[in-house]
Amino acid sequence: MLSIVSTTKFAVYDLVHKNCTKKTVIEELIELFDEMVGETNTYAIARTISRQEREETDSLDKGYLTYGEASFPLMKSVFETILSDDVLFNQKPRSFVDLGSGSGRTSLMACLLQTIIKFTDVTGIEILDSLYRMSVDIKDRFDNFNRASTDPFFSSNLKFFKGSIFDLTLYDWTSNDIIFINSTCFSDEMMTKIYEHIKQTRRGTYVITFTFPLYSIKPIVLDLVRELRLETSWGQADIFIQKKI
Ligand SMILES: C[S@@+](CC[C@H](N)C(=O)[O-])C[C@H]1O[C@@H](n2cnc3c(N)ncnc32)[C@H](O)[C@@H]1O
Repeated sequence: MLSIVSTTKFAVYDLVHKNCTKKTVIEELIELFDEMVGETNTYAIARTISRQEREETDSLDKGYLTYGEASFPLMKSVFETILSDDVLFNQKPRSFVDLGSGSGRTSLMACLLQTIIKFTDVTGIEILDSLYRMSVDIKDRFDNFNRASTDPFFSSNLKFFKGSIFDLTLYDWTSNDIIFINSTCFSDEMMTKIYEHIKQTRRGTYVITFTFPLYSIKPIVLDLVRELRLETSWGQADIFIQKKI
């Protein structure tokens, strides 16, 4: 078991060399993730409090608020695919945004997966207050971990906003290098609005969507890099890795 405080980039790599038959880097990272989030920040809790808030606010019929999560292996595959598509992507630190960030767990996964892609900024935007508050807790835990660590390897500016992804005065996410959208339950109208904003992004921006691709919407501004079928909290989902042209 890793100790959070003593875990560093070098500790992680050490484990690969010394115990390579026992644990992979990803297994070590998942263990670190579980230690960091603790027992109060689980997927089951996020799903429950999301449902409670939707019941209390009479919004159970709003399908786009349905809760589900990406997984660590999913995030790893996405980042590895991006790197294999653009071998120069890691030449400078990048930024990542999660549109509809839920409990913040997926954003924390991105912070830990800096063994693959280095991020200066990892940002989440979430509309439900209860989930947003979970993500603030995750940010506190991540910041405390970094403060206690002697190695800044995992550090990045992790931040969360409470509000709508369509309110760009709250946070303009269009300048991020990777735009991650767990969009399985998002409505067509939402996807069309997201697409309008994607048009403003830089060439080379990666856009990840779930279940529905954006790359074929006209006018075509995205290329399909890869389609993957990967594990999520609700089973397998089709993941579309697209790139702004
Ligand atoms: C399927 S969950 C994804 C959680 C996380 N991104 C992940 O992949 O693990 C989708 C999230 O989007 C949020 N959401 C839906 N519409 C939103 C909007 N307009 N602005 C911000 N968040 C929104 C929901 O409340 C929900 O937490």
